[in-house]
Amino acid sequence: MRNHSDLQAMNERSLAQQSNVRRATFSPGETKELRPFSIWEICTFMFDVPADTLRKKLADDPTLPQGETEEDGRQRWFTLEEINELRRRVRFRGKTLLPKRPKGRAIRVAVSNFKGGVGKTVVAQHLANAAALDGYRVLCVDFDPQATLTHSMGIVEVKEWNTVWGIMCRDLCRESDRITETYDDPDDCPYPSSDELPQDVQEIGAQRFMDFIQPTCWPTIDIIPSCANAAFVEFASAQYRALHKAWSFFGCVSRYLDELPDDQYDIIIFDCPPAIGYQSLNAAFAADILYIPSGPGYWEYDSTTSFLGQLGDALADISEGFGPLAKDAGLTLPKEFMDVRVLMTRFEVTNPLHQAMSEAFQNVFGADVCRNPIEMTRAVEQSGRFQNSVYEQDYRQMTRETWKRARQSFDRAYGEFRDTLMKSWSENAERKEIDQ
Ligand SMILES: Nc1ncnc2c1ncn2[C@@H]1O[C@H](COP(=O)(O)OP(=O)(O)O)[C@@H](O)[C@H]1O
Ligand SMILES: [Mg+2]
Repeated sequence: MRNHSDLQAMNERSLAQQSNVRRATFSPGETKELRPFSIWEICTFMFDVPADTLRKKLADDPTLPQGETEEDGRQRWFTLEEINELRRRVRFRGKTLLPKRPKGRAIRVAVSNFKGGVGKTVVAQHLANAAALDGYRVLCVDFDPQATLTHSMGIVEVKEWNTVWGIMCRDLCRESDRITETYDDPDDCPYPSSDELPQDVQEIGAQRFMDFIQPTCWPTIDIIPSCANAAFVEFASAQYRALHKAWSFFGCVSRYLDELPDDQYDIIIFDCPPAIGYQSLNAAFAADILYIPSGPGYWEYDSTTSFLGQLGDALADISEGFGPLAKDAGLTLPKEFMDVRVLMTRFEVTNPLHQAMSEAFQNVFGADVCRNPIEMTRAVEQSGRFQNSVYEQDYRQMTRETWKRARQSFDRAYGEFRDTLMKSWSENAERKEIDQ
C-alpha cells in the first residue's frame, strides 16, 4: 500500500535531483533569444513591398537602421526593434507601415477550451508572435500552471506569487478593504478586512502592480507568467472564497488589467488551462473576445460542446449570485463577450475525416467558425526544446516550402484574428467617445 507519505517521499527524492536533471535535459543557462529577420521576410510577409524598393529607401537614408549583412554579403538581417523603427520612419507611396490602433484600452482575447493538447498554447503563442511582428505591443497572461507559454517566451524561473495567483491575493486584499470601507462603522462589516486575512495572503497581496509583468525574449511582448506551483491557486482560491463571501473571485484579473494605462499595450492574449476553474473563469471574465481552438477529431468536438455548456452555466451562476455586488466591484453582469470564435487547429486539408469534422463545425456553429483553420505542420512539431514558433524558427534550417506553408497558415489565421479584433476594438473606441 502507498499513501501520501510515499508521494511526499517521491517528491523529496525528485526535488533533491532536480538541478541535475535540469542540467542534463533542460539547459537553463541557455537563454532564448529572438532571431533577426531577413529583407526577404520583411518585404514578403510584413511590409508587402518589393525588396528593391526597401533597399532603395535604406540606401537613400543612411540614418535608417541598416541591419546586419551576412558574411557572404547576400542577405541583410534586421532585429524586431529595427523593423519597428522602420515602421515609424518609412512610408511607401505615402502609406504608413504602422499598424492600425483604435483609441482606448488594449483588446483582450482568451484562448480557451476544455481539452488539453488541442493547440491552445500553440495558437496563443503564434497569435502573440504574429501580432508583435505586425507592429503591435502585446501582453500575454499565462493562466495555465503547465506554463508552456511562459517557457516558450524564454522564461524559466517563475515564483508562484508572481503568477495569476499573486494577482488574486492582491485583489482579495484590496477588495476586502474596499468592501469594509463601504460600512459607516467597519465593525459592522460581516467580512474580514485585509489585516484579518491569513499572513501569506497579506504578504503575497502586498506586491506592486508591476511585480507581475515580465519582459520576454520579444522586445514588444511582455508576460504575466505561470509555473507548476501556481496549480495550487485552484485549491487556495476555494479557501479564500470561504474566508470572504462577498469577494468577486472571478473578477480579479479583469480589475487588475483595468489598472493598466490604456496605451501600454495593444493586444492582451490569455492562454488558459484545460479546465473550468478559478483561473479560467478569471480569464473569461477579463476577455473581450473568446477564441476557442478545437482539433478535428470527434472527441474534440465533444469536449468543445461540454466546454461551451459548462462555461455558459458557470457564467449564468455568477450572474445570479453576484448581481447586486458586481457594479461596486468594477464588473458588469451578465458577462458579455464582444465576439466568440471557434478555431479549428491541427487541420489536414487532405484528410477526409478532418474535412467532415470541419463541415460539422460549420453546420453547428455557422459564422462563429473561423474561415482559416490552423494546419497541422511539421514546423510546429519541430519546435525543439525552446518551443520555437514558426515565426521564431530560422527558415534556413528546414525546407523553405515547409516553413512558408506553415507561416502562411498561421498568417491567414492571424489576419482573420486581427479583423475580428479590429471590429470589436473600433466599437469599444466609439463607445468610449460617446461615454466621454
Ligand atoms: N498546428 C499544429 N501542427 C502540428 N502540431 C501541433 C499544432 N498545434 C499543436 N500541435 C502540437 O500539439 C501538442 C499540444 O499543443 P498545445 O498547444 O500545447 O495544446 P494545449 O495548449 O491545448 O494543451 C504540442 O505538442 C504541439 O506541438
Ligand atoms: Mg497549453
